[in-house]
Amino acid sequence: MAARVFSGVQPTGNIHIGNYLGALKQFVDLQTGNDCIYCIVDLHAITVPKDPSELNSAILDVAALYLAVGLDPGKSIVFVQSDVSGHAELSWILMCNSYTGELSRMTQFKDKSRGNESAPTGLFAYPVLMAADILLYDTDVVPVGNDQKQHIELTRDIAIRVNNKYGEDTFVVPEGRFLKEGARIMALDDPTAKMSKSAENPHSSISLLDDEGKIKKSIMRATTDSDGEIRFDPGSKPGVSNLITIYGAFAGMGAADVEREWAGRGYGDFKKALVEVTIDSLRPIQERYAEIRSSGDLITTLKDGAERAGAIAEKVMVRVKDRFGLGAAG
Ligand code: TYM
Repeated sequence: MAARVFSGVQPTGNIHIGNYLGALKQFVDLQTGNDCIYCIVDLHAITVPKDPSELNSAILDVAALYLAVGLDPGKSIVFVQSDVSGHAELSWILMCNSYTGELSRMTQFKDKSRGNESAPTGLFAYPVLMAADILLYDTDVVPVGNDQKQHIELTRDIAIRVNNKYGEDTFVVPEGRFLKEGARIMALDDPTAKMSKSAENPHSSISLLDDEGKIKKSIMRATTDSDGEIRFDPGSKPGVSNLITIYGAFAGMGAADVEREWAGRGYGDFKKALVEVTIDSLRPIQERYAEIRSSGDLITTLKDGAERAGAIAEKVMVRVKDRFGLGAAG
């Protein structure tokens, strides 16, 4: 039987090559032979205050990027999270089955709140909403980058806990899917930190929509080291290793092949080749993006996706409410 696949991306900032190589590329590959649902998680984005019109435009930007990288609404369901009310509803039920202790241990919460007492409650509950996204669709597989590992573990813990209490068939217990190459693309200016949408330095990441000049500048400035050898060794050569990973992911080569191809050559030439392979990989995405973003079909696609997702979610919610004894009909 085809596996049910679910994943989501936040409509915040510019989607970068880390998001693409760690997650979006997997989304596209999984479309064949699986039953895929891909979401733009706008409710997650308001854990920090957002300008409403900017948020709305970012939702459509990410939707257009989904389609531009190769998601096909004929094969996969593509929709916006807040268009299906089950996400927020299931989130509450799961919140009543998660512990403040386990949520306090989430590294993303610790990083973002830094002990600040006026951090929004939504930031704390964020991983529970993510668990609801996944469990709402009886998901088997969740393709994500490494930074989501802890959230996937929490989702599994909550699902198992609820199943133990309310019946084994209440939730499907999902598995994360992490790539061998690309699951953690590091920042170009600081290869000890992950490439992030919220970094201050624009040259720390490459957005899928960056122009050629910007891509060139960001890569040519990327932090390397002084020994001059193109060798994959993330421990002692994090900068060069990150560039090797990016090059390999775009060129469809493993790190060992990249090392072999570039043995005995210098960083300057390697960076120039990386600029080229990056531009060549992003150009077709950017061309499709421009067309899709300005077409009226985008909204229709998302509305249709929400209807299809909603129908699946509704069935799961009926089952969950029944198990918990919720509602007048129960
Ligand atoms: P978000 O929007 O921060 O990132 C989207 C996807 O990109 C991956 N990613 C990376 N992969 C490799 N290298 C990087 N530097 C890098 N940075 C980000 C992320 O792991 C993610 O797969 N909480 C999620 C969104 C979400 C979700 C879900 C995902 C909400 N509900 C349900 C899966 C299932 C997030 O903030 O991703």
